Amino acid sequence: MIKIAVLCSGGDSQGMNACIQTIVNMASVHGIMVMGVRRGYQGLIEDDMIELTRESVANIGNLGGCVLKVSRCPEFKTAEGVKKGYETLLKNRIDYLIVIGGDGSFRGAIELSRLGAKVITMPGTIDNDLFYTDRTLGFDTAVNNAVSAIDNIRQTMEANNRGLIVEVMGRECGHIALNVAVAVCAHSVAVKEVNTTISDIVSDVKQCLNKGITSPVVVISEAVDYSVDDVRRAVEQECGIECRTSVIGYLQRGGAPSVFDRVFAIQLGINAIELILKGVSNIALGIRNRNVFYMKLEDVYNLKDEFDKLLYRQLRNLHNLK
Ligand code: ADP
Ligand code: F6P
Repeated sequence: MIKIAVLCSGGDSQGMNACIQTIVNMASVHGIMVMGVRRGYQGLIEDDMIELTRESVANIGNLGGCVLKVSRCPEFKTAEGVKKGYETLLKNRIDYLIVIGGDGSFRGAIELSRLGAKVITMPGTIDNDLFYTDRTLGFDTAVNNAVSAIDNIRQTMEANNRGLIVEVMGRECGHIALNVAVAVCAHSVAVKEVNTTISDIVSDVKQCLNKGITSPVVVISEAVDYSVDDVRRAVEQECGIECRTSVIGYLQRGGAPSVFDRVFAIQLGINAIELILKGVSNIALGIRNRNVFYMKLEDVYNLKDEFDKLLYRQLRNLHNLK
């Protein structure tokens, strides 16, 4: 009997549970035993795993968070930590390990594969910062959550003729910020990829106020090296408009996965088991042009970020910004 294990690592993201559920359901169809490793690589080091069954994962597909729990595990960044994790796999006779996580988790999976583990990775992070794939699991939901939060806040800003400065997550990556900004037709967006400065934001806001906008919306990525309060102070001083700030934060990372993320999670789960049945390993699953595909795990970092400059420019054109 094939025995596999699944773990989720890094920040949790919506769709992880749907993925776990699909892996278990699809595995049970083919008589594969699935172990769930708790708390990511920390649990792997500590040999903390339980058998997952159709019954134990029933009704988790619509939940945010991660039933197996996640962790950031500094020890796994050491050769000793990876060795301990590999030994847990050997001890439990795990044939394949599925890792759902982001950039760092993939690096851990590569280290395990170098020791001899058979690994399959899936992109699970809200940040969309794995560039071999068009989308990471959770990104779509995170953007939707931020957009609905801003839609609400905006109503009270409009009622008071106030400007709104919001910060969204995404770590070093501006994909969440850009997509949220476009969805709410923000008047300025600040991302690291184009080195947006506070003066750039002030200039955007001034241009919009001159065109009659009464409640400008500014979206900043958490990657920029200034805060929403720094921006608020500058805009209030230089544009003469009262502003309020909001850090959307963890609101983005909770709640039910969107339909896109659910379908993506299910596709990832099905593909992983099909590949295991074919004996394929040390690959990363992703989605490109709406098709789920896989590539050699070691090659995922050959692809660099292609920040969507066209979308960025289109948002600026929408407000006729210089
Ligand atoms: P994400 O996977 O979402 O990018 P992190 O960067 O925090 O989140 O990485 C998750 C975990 O992956 C880390 O806590 C660590 O256990 C493991 N990891 C990160 N980088 C490496 C590395 N270079 N080698 C081995 N394991 C790593
Ligand atoms: O990587 C996902 C993410 O939500 C980032 O967007 C954010 O910077 C980070 O995790 C927050 O991490 P933590 O949950 O450890 O505070």
